[in-house]
Order: sequence, then C-alpha cells, then structure tokens
Amino acid sequence: MKFFLDTANIEEIKRINKLGLVDGITTNPTIIAKENREFSEIIKEICSLVDGPVSAEVIGLTTVEMVEEAREIAQWASNVVVKIPMTEAGLEAVHILTKEGIKTNVTLVFSVAQGLMAAKAGATYISPFVGRVDDIGEDGIELIQNLKQTLNNYQFETEIITASIRTINHLEKAAIAGADIATIPGSLLPKLWSHPLTDKGIEQFLQDWKKVPVSTKA
Ligand code: E4P
Repeated sequence: MKFFLDTANIEEIKRINKLGLVDGITTNPTIIAKENREFSEIIKEICSLVDGPVSAEVIGLTTVEMVEEAREIAQWASNVVVKIPMTEAGLEAVHILTKEGIKTNVTLVFSVAQGLMAAKAGATYISPFVGRVDDIGEDGIELIQNLKQTLNNYQFETEIITASIRTINHLEKAAIAGADIATIPGSLLPKLWSHPLTDKGIEQFLQDWKKVPVSTKA
C-alpha cells in the first residue's frame, strides 16, 4: 500500500518524508487555504520535496474551466496530478485531459457508480471519502471493498486513493481491502505508529537493564 500525506504543510511533509513513509501528497482547497500561501508556489515546493504524485485541485465548475486550469497546473511540475470533482463536467474534463497525457485524481467519490464512471472516463486515481461516507450513516470501508472488487472485475488501471481517513481502523481496513493508496492526515500518523504496549515494553526493558552488571554491558 502506498501512503500519501493529506496535507500542504511543508514542515509536516519534511518530517514524515524522513521516515520513508511519503509516496505522494494530496491537497484540496481547504488544505491549501490553511497554509496562507499562493497556490502554485506551494504546489511547486511540495513537488520538489516529494518524488511521488502531488494532487492539486481545480476550482472551475465547467469542463472548459477545469481543462484550462488543469493544463496550467500540469505545467508546474512533472509529478503534479490534477484533482477534478466527480461531476458530469468533471468526467468530460478527465476524458480530455487523459488523452493529453495529464494525470487526474477524481475527487469526492461516494458510490461505486461514481468510481466506475471516473475509471471509465480515464481517471488515473479515484478518491472515495470514507470518513464522510461514515458521517451520513453509511459504511466507508464497504465502499472501498466494493470499488476494489469492481475495478478488479474489469482490470481498470485506475488506482484507489482511500481519502477522508480519520481512524486507525479506516487505514487498517482499507489496507485489508486492497486499496492501492491511503492518504493520511498528519495528525493521525503518530497514532498509526504508536501502541501503549510498545511504550510499556520500552519502559520495562529500561528498568530491567538497570539490573544488568556494568561489566557485562559492553
Ligand atoms: C483527499 O484527497 C481529501 O480531500 C481529504 O482526504 C478529505 O478529507 P476530509 O473529509 O477529512 O476533509
């Protein structure tokens, strides 16, 4: 499973990159707005820090607007991916951009039907939002399982980015379901690599080590 960071925070990206855990980055307008910097400037900097794909989202709602923005964004770096919302206009934009060799990430996917449409239009990635699906009383992980099965049934090359991840359970279940990618908010990462029994075990080992005679420690 590839790990993307769901952030535009440069310090966070640098810190997690040191652990070898960053295969790519996803952003959206909300995430970009938190950084209080110009859009192209921040995406270019992230692209220079990370080897993998970096998603940057269009704002336009018509196909013409989306395609125009996407062509501009695609020039910012070789590893940039254009995020397109899951609408009829978005599908047309994805179809046009795919033919031009521009990679796309179709975002705001909430059903198998939407994921299938996006894959059929040629999306490089689709982003089903598991947390937001759970918010409306449905099962986000079941959506991932069903999308994985559907894309496998027809050998689509489109990769699933599990998005809107909020819990350890989301990440673990998405991995078990075979999602290609998980995009993870920085705030969740420490919970993924921590366990109370790890902390307790280290404490116990350090206490016991004090009982080891000094001469045998070398
Ligand atoms: C990533 O591509 C999405 O924009 C992001 O995961 C959305 O997460 P949220 O539902 O917590 O805002």
